[in-house]
Amino acid sequence: MTQRTPVLVDCDTGIDDAMALLFLLASDGVEIVGVTSVFGNNTAAQCAINSLRVLELAGRTDIPVAIGAEKPLVGEVTYLATHVHGSDGLGDAGLPVDVAAQPSTKTAVEFIDELAERYAGELRILAIGPLTNLAHALDQIPGLVGKVRDVVIMGGAADAPGNQSPAAEANIIHDPEAAQRVISAGWETTLVPLDVTMREILTEDHRDRLAVAGVPAASFVAAATDFYFGHYGMDSFGRRSSACHDALAAGVLTGEVVPLSAPVIDVVVDCTDGPGRGATICDTRGRYRNFTGTSGGNCRVVLETDGTFPDVLVRRLVGAV
Ligand code: BDR
Ligand code: CA
Repeated sequence: MTQRTPVLVDCDTGIDDAMALLFLLASDGVEIVGVTSVFGNNTAAQCAINSLRVLELAGRTDIPVAIGAEKPLVGEVTYLATHVHGSDGLGDAGLPVDVAAQPSTKTAVEFIDELAERYAGELRILAIGPLTNLAHALDQIPGLVGKVRDVVIMGGAADAPGNQSPAAEANIIHDPEAAQRVISAGWETTLVPLDVTMREILTEDHRDRLAVAGVPAASFVAAATDFYFGHYGMDSFGRRSSACHDALAAGVLTGEVVPLSAPVIDVVVDCTDGPGRGATICDTRGRYRNFTGTSGGNCRVVLETDGTFPDVLVRRLVGAV
């Protein structure tokens, strides 16, 4: 038997976080060894319950879920994205609210510490919410950077517009100071920004295939994305559809999304109080020479993918691959 790669998912479980969890749970090469929650799409407490609801749907009540930060490093929470993910955070799609398993009694940081020790050198982290838990973990766990194999982040916008402000993407603007701490920590980091997540689009055709498969996880995603499509409306892509942000980052982590362009470049997060707050300033000047000769960056930034991930996602969720 091939050994599966241990993955910790740090998330603010909304609709696309749920897609990411379900995608990884159905993927052969990886094992979700724990989930930590953070405020963002909803409160960290609700996001932990949402993770448990999704895990229960997949029959994985054995995976521990720990509650993390309810507020950013600096200031207070400015909004929770219930307008994007529904009042329950999962598209109000009827997923049972009562869960068999309860959140861990450990905090997210305590749980990250435990997993980093247990899987030292092997642990991969998929960070698909605000980066507050990881920033706290970096400050509180000695030697954490050396114990983690890599961190894959859904967040930011390199050369694309933001989605929460003209310059900033939601996960980063929720806690820019934390994002800066995590991206500059010195561990191997991959950023999966809006440049690519807004170009890998779920459509009604994908929803139809999910809905008729007779697979609980697929039926749930079909139901939840009805709300998600409603949020994106016709404006984003000219048809009822949505991005699948966090799931795309999961595909990058498993290696099933092979970027067409993903240079290692310098990324700095704007932590000022001006209109650029939360922007990920990515040094993409290497575009002018096809990124040849770029060196010394702190982050691998996925700039281009081929648009086929939603199909892979659907096939994985219906059990076809
Ligand atoms: C990110 O923000 C959240 O609403 C999504 O779950 C995703 O992680 C996209 O900007
Ligand atoms: Ca998320």
